Amino acid sequence: MSASLTGRLTGKMALVTGASAGIGRATAVALAKEGAQVIASGRREQELQALQHECAAFEGQILPMAGDLVDADFLARLCEQAREADIFINNAGVLTYAPLLELTDAQNEAMFELNVMTGIRICQRMARAMVARGGGHIVVMSSLSARNIRPFAGVYGATKHAMSGIAKSLRIELAASGLKVTELAPGMVDTDIRVSSTHAEVQKSLQSRKYAPLSAQDVAEAVVYAVCTPPNCCPDLIELRPTLS
Ligand SMILES: NC(=O)c1ccc[n+]([C@@H]2O[C@H](COP(=O)([O-])OP(=O)(O)OC[C@H]3O[C@@H](n4cnc5c(N)ncnc54)[C@H](OP(=O)(O)O)[C@@H]3O)[C@@H](O)[C@H]2O)c1
Repeated sequence: MSASLTGRLTGKMALVTGASAGIGRATAVALAKEGAQVIASGRREQELQALQHECAAFEGQILPMAGDLVDADFLARLCEQAREADIFINNAGVLTYAPLLELTDAQNEAMFELNVMTGIRICQRMARAMVARGGGHIVVMSSLSARNIRPFAGVYGATKHAMSGIAKSLRIELAASGLKVTELAPGMVDTDIRVSSTHAEVQKSLQSRKYAPLSAQDVAEAVVYAVCTPPNCCPDLIELRPTLS
């Protein structure tokens, strides 16, 4: 741990999935700025190395772990590396917006496999390790799509409803074990997550929106708020809504 960088999370270890881009990347930087040692995962090794380099400039500690979370062997290695993590940000996710009747099995399976099945597997592993160590904090990155279903976001929204349920279950079953669970539900955030959503109706709908998206930094700041709360306090649910412009 760096001797000169001190913050509210000095001495803590965090695992952030989906740290190579967007919300996860901003979150990894924000946690490192607070002094946490951050295990940063994503498939793109170069992006993770760039993140490590950026954080080294302020003596932030990033340990890159590149790999596909859908690969069971990689998931096991990642969780082993992070077995002493105090904080876990379950953030990696994929999205394809399209009219429900036009979504393909492959698109639906990709969303459910990463967002839900992988999310459950990694939350189970990280929660088991935290319970064994007497506590920890899991942040589940859901979405406002976990509360309302909007046109073209049906399957994605269903995956986020599922993870909202998992977050509640973890909280209810494991509160007595010292585990804090925060569901963080942002509205639209300015990242590359929608690049595969090329359907003309989706593009038209996105262009007609009357608000500016949130920034990844807005969400990262909410994560830092949640994980820096004192032991007697847990924000169960944070909804972040872009304001009308
Ligand atoms: N952007 C929004 O409007 C918004 C709103 C509400 C909630 N969210 C949620 O916030 C989370 C992050 O979204 P984002 O907007 O930051 O997305 P993003 O910019 O597309 O980043 C997604 C991250 O997930 C990683 N990832 C994707 N598939 C992976 C896999 N198979 N194995 C390992 N890592 C994988 C990506 O890394 P690699 O490509 O390097 O693997 C990347 O780091 C998601 O759960 C999303 O549902 C986003």
